[in-house]
Amino acid sequence: MRWNQRKEGLSDNRPLTIIKLGGSAITVKGSYFALRKDALSGISEEIKDFFNERRMIIVHGGGSFGHPVAALYSLQKGRSSNAPSMALSDVEDAMARLNRSIVEALRAVGLPAFPVQTAAVSRAEEGQLQAINSAFFSELLSWGLLPVCYGSLVFDNAMGYSIVSGDNISVALALQLKASSIIFISDVDGIYDRDPKAYPEAKLIRVYHALSSSLNDDWVAGVHDVTGGIANKIRSVVPAVSAGIEVRIVNGLKRGQVSSALKGEDVGTKVVA
Ligand code: ADP
Ligand code: IPE
Repeated sequence: MRWNQRKEGLSDNRPLTIIKLGGSAITVKGSYFALRKDALSGISEEIKDFFNERRMIIVHGGGSFGHPVAALYSLQKGRSSNAPSMALSDVEDAMARLNRSIVEALRAVGLPAFPVQTAAVSRAEEGQLQAINSAFFSELLSWGLLPVCYGSLVFDNAMGYSIVSGDNISVALALQLKASSIIFISDVDGIYDRDPKAYPEAKLIRVYHALSSSLNDDWVAGVHDVTGGIANKIRSVVPAVSAGIEVRIVNGLKRGQVSSALKGEDVGTKVVA
């Protein structure tokens, strides 16, 4: 059997936007299995308003579901973590539970959300996504569906398995499916000159030049984060901005920011090459 895209379904030239729901926006990071239900419903409503005019794929992070489980067993180290197979099952189960809540929130506003188990459609190499079956996502899109996948434990050619971030998956899908934009939804307004949670006087950077700005490795997320926080997010988006894909980071805890970004307005931080 070949994994080619079938030719049925709708022919559709609407632009494609990848929306990364950051774990910080949809869960309480630093806690355990704590969903931000109101934020998730609000974001779902805002996404719905644009569903007719563009195709979209949702990718979500691990937040307080995937990260603590992965951190407990150091699953990001792959086979050298010597984790029991139950730990691999636990992390996938945590992510599948979060995925279900997100699919339910999207369906509740009338969006045809369709869950995709990331590990089943991708491979990693040294902790980075090496391949993803983008034709499968195309097929879902051609049926008018809203695919919902996630950062995940992915089987890895070098390490046995590893944890691939939702940021990495978002960029790979955007490149392969020729998306016009990626919107990263976080719990802060964008990229600051330092962590705005630790430094209230931190300044928002409205346009971040990913190739020429020096990256500060202190820009990490809080406890439990196994995928490297905001510094890794910036590293991950370099291939996308270099390919001319519009990339923006906005605050999902402030109503209206997702809508503004979907309208193409100047909100949050725009990341450019
Ligand atoms: P997400 O969960 O949204 O994918 P991360 O948790 O990886 O994103 O990164 C967002 C977090 O990074 C914010 O909650 C913020 O506290 C922290 N952070 C650290 N340094 C910075 C910075 N310079 N600019 C913005 N956020 C930063
Ligand atoms: C991590 O994905 C997935 C797991 C921990 C299994 P992300 O790195 O994209 O998660 P967030 O957005 O930072 O929570």
